[in-house]
Amino acid sequence: MNIVVIGTGYVGLVTAAVLAKLGHRVWGLDVDESKVHRLQQSEIPFFEPGLKELVVQGLKKGNLQFTTTYAQVVPSAEVIFICVGTPAKKDGGYDLSYIFQSAKTIGQNLKKYTVVCIKSTVPPGTANEVKKIIHKQTKIPFDVAACPEFLKEGSAVADSLHPSRVVIGVESKRAKELLLKLHRPIKAPRLVCDINSAQMIKYAANAFLATKISFINSIARICDAVGADVGTVSQGLSLDPRISGQFLQAGLGYGGSCFPKDTWALISFARKLGYDFKFLKEVDQINQEQINYLVQKIIKSCGGSVEGKVLTILGLSFKPETDDIREARSIPLIKKLQEKGAKIKACDPVALENAAKVLKEVKLFKDPYLALENSSALILVTEWDEFKNLNFSKVGQIMAKKVIIDGRNIYDSKKLKKLGFQYKGVGRG
Ligand SMILES: NC(=O)c1ccc[n+]([C@@H]2O[C@H](COP(=O)([O-])OP(=O)(O)OC[C@H]3O[C@@H](n4cnc5c(N)ncnc54)[C@H](O)[C@@H]3O)[C@@H](O)[C@H]2O)c1
Repeated sequence: MNIVVIGTGYVGLVTAAVLAKLGHRVWGLDVDESKVHRLQQSEIPFFEPGLKELVVQGLKKGNLQFTTTYAQVVPSAEVIFICVGTPAKKDGGYDLSYIFQSAKTIGQNLKKYTVVCIKSTVPPGTANEVKKIIHKQTKIPFDVAACPEFLKEGSAVADSLHPSRVVIGVESKRAKELLLKLHRPIKAPRLVCDINSAQMIKYAANAFLATKISFINSIARICDAVGADVGTVSQGLSLDPRISGQFLQAGLGYGGSCFPKDTWALISFARKLGYDFKFLKEVDQINQEQINYLVQKIIKSCGGSVEGKVLTILGLSFKPETDDIREARSIPLIKKLQEKGAKIKACDPVALENAAKVLKEVKLFKDPYLALENSSALILVTEWDEFKNLNFSKVGQIMAKKVIIDGRNIYDSKKLKKLGFQYKGVGRG
């Protein structure tokens, strides 16, 4: 099939590369000229394991190409996937302007029946808006559909090839058949439904996962107060098949380009419908407070003040295996510690370039041991394998003070205490 993928970010590029691997003729289109230029040279603009190999394969085979020009690719497309960003607005609302812009340009270039399928995360009702925008530009028949994306950065290629489910939101038989045919090689349960339900599934899924994280972080507060171990509590919960242990790891809370933005968008969308989504507001509030909670732990572990002390942050990306720092917990944490007078050294295997654009007066390191030299505390923020497997005898020798604050509860506290470290996790001592 002839496919066009609009937006070659984390979702669009993975989608384009995977569809090319499945044998389709795919154009990845982006308005960002430098991004497209780099892609044409087989250069991947962000870090995502396994993606480069797929893109190189597609480029070599010739069934994956990149362009900035809608007029070059839209006329022959059978399916167009819209994968542009839907960022949060400052007031917590959602910005759909990139969706509408791309819809307009699609409309201006349609030459035959095409399915325009929204993969970006958008509130119900957006498909109707998109339809109106395209209709204004053309009399050519088309269908709008929605296949929300569930991939996770860090395992995006595997998630796209082997998704937990394929949700197809449609309002015509023709679009349904085309999208089912397109997804045929992908072995996963299918859910075909109306477009609004498809889009609600995506928001509800992210809101639910965010809820699990805030829930266990609230339980962790109580564990801290009574000296219980939240890890053991999670383990006990996960033995109940109705609960499942995933997303029940207490820590610094959730970040990234999806959970914060999508919970805010759902709250904002519900408000527009006249529903005050108090429950989800609380989930968000708990997540926001988690930063201050850790700051207080750090101050206490540093003897009551971090003023003038050198602290080392391990991990800047919002989670391991990505260089994405959108809404990463590291950023507000570092800013709060700087406000308290701390001098920050930070380390990340791949996110330094992105972090340097938003952080000020932070010394950045790729090597954790250099970052930890003469430091008064190690603060673990992102659970990269590199940080899990540190040589703690060496760490103890190079740090000024043997203090560890584990924002993701990954370390063996007993082992560290034996080595003479003062250790604090979240909901565990
Ligand atoms: N990143 C994730 O893990 C993830 C997972 C599931 C769903 N989503 C959703 O997918 C969507 C895309 O997310 P992302 O992280 O890939 O975004 P991104 O910011 O990485 O990429 C968006 C791309 O769209 C391009 N773009 C913007 N306007 C355009 C236009 N008019 N025409 C062509 N290209 C245009 C931008 O230049 C950019 O390269 C969002 O709605 C997001 O919520 C993201």
